[in-house]
Amino acid sequence: MTATAAELAAMARARELGLAVLGTTSPNPAVGAVLLAADGTPVGEGATAPPGGLHAEVQALAQAGERARGGTAVVTLEPCAHTGRTGPCAEALVAAGVARVVVAVPEPTQLAGGGAARLRAVGVDVELGVEQQAAEEGALGAWLTGVREGRPAVVWKVAGTLDGRVAAADGSSRWVTGPEARAAVHRLRATCDAVVVGSGTALTDDPQLTVRDADGRDAPRQPLRVVLDRRGRLPATARVLDDAAPTLISAAPGPRELLDELFARDVRRVLLEGGPTLAAAFLRAGLVDEVVVHLAPKLLGAGAPLVDDLGITGIGDALTLRVTGLTRLGGDVEIRLRPTRHTGVRRVADSHGATGGG
Ligand SMILES: NC(=O)c1ccc[n+]([C@@H]2O[C@H](COP(=O)([O-])OP(=O)(O)OC[C@H]3O[C@@H](n4cnc5c(N)ncnc54)[C@H](OP(=O)(O)O)[C@@H]3O)[C@@H](O)[C@H]2O)c1
Repeated sequence: MTATAAELAAMARARELGLAVLGTTSPNPAVGAVLLAADGTPVGEGATAPPGGLHAEVQALAQAGERARGGTAVVTLEPCAHTGRTGPCAEALVAAGVARVVVAVPEPTQLAGGGAARLRAVGVDVELGVEQQAAEEGALGAWLTGVREGRPAVVWKVAGTLDGRVAAADGSSRWVTGPEARAAVHRLRATCDAVVVGSGTALTDDPQLTVRDADGRDAPRQPLRVVLDRRGRLPATARVLDDAAPTLISAAPGPRELLDELFARDVRRVLLEGGPTLAAAFLRAGLVDEVVVHLAPKLLGAGAPLVDDLGITGIGDALTLRVTGLTRLGGDVEIRLRPTRHTGVRRVADSHGATGGG
């Protein structure tokens, strides 16, 4: 049996629930869950609470109460079978009398694995891999990058003009885009555990790099602010050093070393907001997983480019990306993309035409 229409609708809702808590759950995955009663009616929903809090399934079960009996749990990640800071979700589903469990992504870790097997052993019907790619490219993506590659996922965000300039010839870049796009950047920051710039951006723009709401107030939860400053050029007066959020000044020799440092601090999703120098360093290292471009309908004709030299000379070797989303933000356009390969410019060139991944 494949998933029913009600289950697919519940899975779409579960993905939304996961996205709503992205940025608050690291190092744990941002999971969403919906409980359907035996007749297919939604009777409970949940999403991963901050570390130490309840898992998505347990919250959905609590909302559903007795109506979970004979019903279906729809979850973006396979229910865990281990007792961490909270009890195993597979046991909670069995105890509530759930008859069927529909899962997008099978649990990839040994530690938490075995949930599906445990459920099947007591007669629960389990469907794995339902709309798996959508869940993997959504709220679970960063956590999965951590499991598979032992590093945080990197989202490179850049605001540019139609001719691909991020700053004018005089270095000014405030503001390339309008207020709607800038508000979207604050929402994007809120989904990340750390925001990274290079010393070039910190010195030129002196950004504060905090998450602010529509009224300009600091959000209660702030990502770690990171400045890559190997030569110690950042002045003590820099706004990024104020007490609005924690800040790390790193002298890591390269992007991978920085990501290792951040991973050890439980960071799973990084927003790269640096200038063209740092963007090129991350792209050359194959360490960009998602790209968010805010394109302003303006022309400058001169000024800093979106990205510095990538060592590419022929069009056939272009670093190729796949468009995953297109949204109008006021007068600007947001384009979301993913490099078609993770493995760096050279390998992308070698495997010209390859798709998928992500
Ligand atoms: N429109 C936009 O979205 C946007 C966003 C950001 C910046 N900008 C503009 O971009 C310009 C600044 O560009 P930028 O390229 O100088 O900024 P950047 O990429 O943020 O900073 C570059 C600096 O980062 C440091 N760095 C540390 N680790 C590095 C590594 N592994 N590889 C390369 N560099 C590393 C280097 O200084 P050390 O060697 O001292 O460490 C380097 O000079 C400004 O005009 C700013 O307004 C625009």
